[in-house]
Amino acid sequence: MTLVEEFPGVRVRAPGKINVFLEVGARQEDGYHELATAFQAVSLFEDVVASLSDGFSLAVTGSVDTTGVPEDDTNLALRAARLLATEAGYGGGAHIDIRKDVPVAGGMGGGSADAAATLVACDALWGTGLSTRELHSLAARLGADVPFALTGGTAVGTGRGDALNPALARGRFEWVLVPGASGLSTPKVYRELDRMREEHAEHISPVSDTPTVSADVLHALRAGDPRMLAEVLHNDLQAAALRLRPDLGEVLDFGVREGALAGIVSGSGPTLAFLVESRQDGYGLQQRLARAGYEAIHAHGPVHGARIV
Ligand code: C5P
Repeated sequence: MTLVEEFPGVRVRAPGKINVFLEVGARQEDGYHELATAFQAVSLFEDVVASLSDGFSLAVTGSVDTTGVPEDDTNLALRAARLLATEAGYGGGAHIDIRKDVPVAGGMGGGSADAAATLVACDALWGTGLSTRELHSLAARLGADVPFALTGGTAVGTGRGDALNPALARGRFEWVLVPGASGLSTPKVYRELDRMREEHAEHISPVSDTPTVSADVLHALRAGDPRMLAEVLHNDLQAAALRLRPDLGEVLDFGVREGALAGIVSGSGPTLAFLVESRQDGYGLQQRLARAGYEAIHAHGPVHGARIV
């Protein structure tokens, strides 16, 4: 029996996310923005299998278009594996197989989920035995959204989005997601927001030094009430994403006309997230979007974070 047959690897599943609320504060000296967000992990998953290898390598497949995903050392999952090996003093390597269901460069944290899943998979594969706190700190070094992909559920993120506190959420929220044909670059969307804020500085209120998740959002999550949440969905990045991709505005209007309680750009976009009242309404909206030529995916949240399956 070969090593591979004896030990086929460790499989970890990690979720994509929606920011049901995102307030962006001022740009800091390091280029990042202080923010306050409420994340919800949704039932679109990345599957990562890590297997033993002398070096580090990666293969990416999936139900979504993966052509934009780098397979070299710039891939966040490979960086996660290398970072863990270095920090844990592990001398070997891993082959990472990723199967993606989260839209690429879609604002749903797919790359962050890959990195979180890789940390958990390699930790188990190599027996490095890091604590949750240590994994969280490595995750934060890889990207602002990586810690949330580790924890999943519903959580409030502050700082860069990586300082997490769990939020109480009752029941299950139903979402219809429209991935959008091509991705948006996150740094570009933040830059556009900065540009718009400078341009309109005289007309808008000053940017908050201490962004905060609205109490109404936390209340709606706690109540498990989609109608209440629909009233308070908010994303400061939405205006910037719509400036770069005006076509998204039409799809948002269409979704709401066709039965969504509300629609929002997910993270930096271009994925759109429509909140619906029930699973039945979700299937109805999905069909109407599909008939109008938009790819639409039905998902629900909250779901668990990165875990071995
Ligand atoms: O941390 P991550 O690599 O996911 O962030 C991608 C980019 O998004 C950053 O390089 C930065 O331009 C922008 N960003 C930001 N402020 C945050 C999070 C991300 O400006 N809090």
